[in-house]
Amino acid sequence: MCGIVAYVGPKPAYPILIKGLHRLEYRGYDSAGLCLLNGELKVWKCKGKVSELEKYIEGENLEGTIGMAHTRWATHGEPNQINAHPHYSQSKHLSIIHNGIIENYLVLRKELQQRGYTFTSDTDTEVLIHLIEDIQQNEHVAVEEAVRIALTQVIGAYAIVVLSQDHPDKIIAARKGSPMVIGIGVDEFFVASDATPIIEYTNNVVFMNDEEIAIIERHQELKMRTIRNQERTPYIQRLEMSLTAIEKSGFPHFMLKEIFEQPHSIEDSMRGRLHLDQDTVTLGGIRDYLPKILNAERIIITACGTSWHAGLVGEYIIEDLARIPVEVEYSSEFRYRNPVISEKDVIIAISQSGETADTLAAIELAKSKGATVLGICNVVGSSIARATHAGVYTHAGPEIGVASTKAFTAQVVVLTLIGLLLAEKKGTVPESHLHKLRLELGLIPSKVEKILERANKIKDIATIYKDRTNALYLGRGYNFPVALEGALKLKEISYIHAEGYPAAEMKHGPIALIDKYMPVVFIAHKRGIYEKVITNIEEVRARKGNIIAIITEGDESVKKLADHYIEIPDTEEMLIPLLATIPLQLLSYYVAVMRGCNVDQPRNLAKSVTVE
Ligand code: F6R
Repeated sequence: MCGIVAYVGPKPAYPILIKGLHRLEYRGYDSAGLCLLNGELKVWKCKGKVSELEKYIEGENLEGTIGMAHTRWATHGEPNQINAHPHYSQSKHLSIIHNGIIENYLVLRKELQQRGYTFTSDTDTEVLIHLIEDIQQNEHVAVEEAVRIALTQVIGAYAIVVLSQDHPDKIIAARKGSPMVIGIGVDEFFVASDATPIIEYTNNVVFMNDEEIAIIERHQELKMRTIRNQERTPYIQRLEMSLTAIEKSGFPHFMLKEIFEQPHSIEDSMRGRLHLDQDTVTLGGIRDYLPKILNAERIIITACGTSWHAGLVGEYIIEDLARIPVEVEYSSEFRYRNPVISEKDVIIAISQSGETADTLAAIELAKSKGATVLGICNVVGSSIARATHAGVYTHAGPEIGVASTKAFTAQVVVLTLIGLLLAEKKGTVPESHLHKLRLELGLIPSKVEKILERANKIKDIATIYKDRTNALYLGRGYNFPVALEGALKLKEISYIHAEGYPAAEMKHGPIALIDKYMPVVFIAHKRGIYEKVITNIEEVRARKGNIIAIITEGDESVKKLADHYIEIPDTEEMLIPLLATIPLQLLSYYVAVMRGCNVDQPRNLAKSVTVE
């Protein structure tokens, strides 16, 4: 949440900062702001998106080769111009941008007010910049030392960048709990919440660790310290990410591009892991922990949102194949509810961004109880990838659309690979069945391709239902998590109220909602508990609900029952979620576009939920 970008080097800073803000806008878009240091610190900020900021500063003198910029997702204080970042210190000699939450800001604010500081905003961030100035003035220390001392006094999460008028060549950056990456170019530095604003200029990056402060100075080597004042040697990594991966490449929205990328992203998530020639699966990232996983008494999967839905599919797969009990927990509940965890448990944390605050906290809790914690993350070098003992990257490529699509299918692929690997090692499933599953998994990318060719039919269905106010999604077995995911996609980008349910639960309440205005999306694939789902469809028909069915290619009987149907290829039952989710992603995309919604940046949402 909140996007941060900063630059120092020989080039004009403004074009780099504004482009960086556009790339980071998926992290938050309530308001945007910019600070350039050119003799003095100049701040411009406004409510709304980055494009509003561009209009707002038209005609201004935007010279300067050092600066920082911010796009906000409001936590403290409503999204308006005053609360937008950057924030000045009282003397206007310092300025700050911040991503995170300062939890003890009220106490600090009161103390600073008593010492004569005036606050102009409602934010927790302003407290921090006044505190830094207060320390600098009272203790006569350099700005980086004032930042360091201030950070020993704050409780909460932060990624900050501070500029000082008195140090026109220096950027101070720090992080705890919120991500921050430093890009190292030729005689220039970039700082950002993630690598997307950086990779256009350099692939050499340093992922900051918690409680680290970076002192970034023109013509100098990068220096790092901890907030406990220990020196740190920056660990420079080479990041493999292409520019086309973070651009729309001719698609009207990132979400559509990412839906259409799935044949490739699914392939990428299996590459080097699913060996059809040797009829086996390998997962190098968790190899050393395999004995531990095979002997686990229980696996607990923890995640949020769409990643939690992937976790539910994972529960069914791993229990089915490896016969290890699996529980799936919302990270936000797990972290606060005193769960029973022991050293014999294996925790799998799933996260696209690798930065979700609740999932990170759940990991820390599990580690403190001695459990082995594995991660399934998409973003390489992310906090969760680094906080876990071992893990498997999904390799879906950057996901920029706020609604998760290709990350979900890649997560399900990785969970399937884990299930297959465990079953192979444990001997819980006949080899002939494992062989079939491996073969079928290898065919999924081409089957997804086939579904994408039917996009126009899905668009036609969207035209019919775009003005409805409610929708129900029903599925059973492996398709229950698909129903949840379909409903989440619709509600988050089109603002239509949608619920996902196990189809048989309908009779225990939701059936009361069904009338001639209620679209009901059934995942009615031929495999699994098919006959029962047919009965559920009949029940909805009897009450005049409108049935949209996801069916197996050529299934004439459901075609007759449904008002509309979308065919998907046949596959093994546990792989159906990889196919059935695709038309539901497209359906919600088209409905949202037809309703005039901003699908890539839905209201109130942010891509990376770094606050709890
Ligand atoms: C929905 C969506 C969210 C995320 C959730 C977890 O489309 O994107 O529900 O799945 O915020 O995020 P990650 O996977 O980054 O931990």
